[in-house]
Amino acid sequence: MNVGLKTQILPAGEAAVAAAARCLAAGGLVAFPTETVYGLGADATNPAAIARLYQAKGRPSFNPLIAHVRDLSAGMRIGRFDATAIALAEAFWPGPLTLVLPKTNDCPVADLATAGLDSVAIRVPAHPLAREILRAFGGPVVAPSANLSGHVSPTTAAHVQSDLAGRIDLIVDGGAVAVGVESTIVGCFDEPMLLRPGGVPRGQIERVLGRALVQKSEDADNDAGQPLAPGMLASHYAPRTLVRLDAERIEAGEALLAFGPGAVPGVSAATAVMNLSARGDLTEAAANLFGYLRALDARGARAIAVMPVPHHGLGEAINDRLRRAAMGRQ
Ligand code: TXA
Ligand code: MG
Repeated sequence: MNVGLKTQILPAGEAAVAAAARCLAAGGLVAFPTETVYGLGADATNPAAIARLYQAKGRPSFNPLIAHVRDLSAGMRIGRFDATAIALAEAFWPGPLTLVLPKTNDCPVADLATAGLDSVAIRVPAHPLAREILRAFGGPVVAPSANLSGHVSPTTAAHVQSDLAGRIDLIVDGGAVAVGVESTIVGCFDEPMLLRPGGVPRGQIERVLGRALVQKSEDADNDAGQPLAPGMLASHYAPRTLVRLDAERIEAGEALLAFGPGAVPGVSAATAVMNLSARGDLTEAAANLFGYLRALDARGARAIAVMPVPHHGLGEAINDRLRRAAMGRQ
């Protein structure tokens, strides 16, 4: 295990970008902010670095990674873009959209990073620090969320530190991220398919496509067989505390994860209360989601009771993550 490493933490800036690029080139592991969540980066072409990455996260090795690149032309060196993929890339990159595409013949991304699949997941992040690091490094960087496998994704450098200190080389601290849920993943197969709801709402993608995205079947959530998104284990986002969804009243000893201005019966008995967005704003709720789950998880409550969150726009991604958090412990 690569436990016992000295993990350096650097504030955002030129020195941090240069250190990150050097570290990646040397096969190191660097956590850095993207607009969605913090990623744990490794050189996508270096199998030894990727093996260390899986080890640092404690991640099952069948879980393929997203290759982050600086722009569409860099993406075209690793994935084969059809007209649909180009339209989506032009509409949403840089930004919180990942495209799963057939690999190019000379795709430089290591097989270990794609779990031996003949497809590759690609994204161009929008966060200025992520972009500067990609530019300084010069090649594709695989980056899963920078948390221990099964934990909630990190939205601050402190979250990364609490999961991965001693297991990775460098954390670049760029403050809290803006979006708060991971990228939307679209598989560009015969028909474009929504593999994971995320930071770009489905409706925006469908407007560009001029048609509905095909829905991934629910069975693909289980790790049995060969699902389309093999990493999407049902309990991927589990806190330690039991999570109870669609709570309409609070039981004694529960913590409340609230949404909107409404009150819930029993709230005075809650051990802790955090509101994802008191004004009912889904963008604000997404940005707060993982941090609040972490904070409530640390309170030692009997359960985290979660008020219903509307399912439109970013609500689809928020409800997906909440459902996974709840499934982990039921
Ligand atoms: O916002 C994000 O996407 C963040 C930031 C750091 O970029 N990254 C992220 O990575 O969420 P990760 O590893 O936590 O999730 C990647 C997802 C997994 O569910 C994985 O199964 C899926 O992408 N994936 C990767 N390659 C795939 C492929 N070839 N086919 C289908 N799914 C794939
Ligand atoms: Mg993750």
